[in-house]
Amino acid sequence: MKGAIFYTGKRGSTAQYAQWIGQATGLPVFDANNTQADPAEYDFLILGCSVILMRMTIRKWVRANWDAIKQKPTLLFSVSGVTADDPLLQKWLDASYPDELVKQSPHFGLGGRLDLSKLNWWMKIFMRIGAYTKPTAEKKRDMLEGFDRVDKASIAPIVEWANTLKAKTIPIEAG
Ligand SMILES: Cc1cc2nc3c(=O)[nH]c(=O)nc-3n(C[C@H](O)[C@H](O)[C@H](O)COP(=O)(O)O)c2cc1C
Repeated sequence: MKGAIFYTGKRGSTAQYAQWIGQATGLPVFDANNTQADPAEYDFLILGCSVILMRMTIRKWVRANWDAIKQKPTLLFSVSGVTADDPLLQKWLDASYPDELVKQSPHFGLGGRLDLSKLNWWMKIFMRIGAYTKPTAEKKRDMLEGFDRVDKASIAPIVEWANTLKAKTIPIEAG
């Protein structure tokens, strides 16, 4: 079967994961906000995005292309400041995507990167204020000092899922 990777991200970490998955699977990689590629032309999809302000950044593209997406095997990945087992991820998924997509699709939470030196002054202030609301010292430090948890090895289960579907053939319907 034929698959593709569509992603959204702003500062490079999501794009980096999408490129790594593309290299490991041979699937084409598209920046969803900057492509004419049509998800309808593929049999399965990998949709990846950053999390900004507790929402999946690819959510509007998903809704705009929902007719093409809803019948296809789809894997979701998100790139953020929380760890893969953080229950917040489920909340953000539920708030961002159609229920059907969340129920049917495997999701992988990948470690992101926040380089505070690249943010403008009001974003830096936003992070300082946000740090006060965080429950643990570690989470406060993430917002005050930034973090880099981008990890190439974490794409392994995504690559395995894609390669399994790639190897499948679509049965030709009789009649
Ligand atoms: C303005 C802003 C808001 C963010 N909001 C969240 C958030 O709500 N939850 C979270 O876990 N990470 C949050 N992050 C961290 C990003 O998800 C992380 O930096 C990610 O790696 C960005 O992906 P990108 O490099 O592809 O843009 C935020 C980062 C920025 C700059």
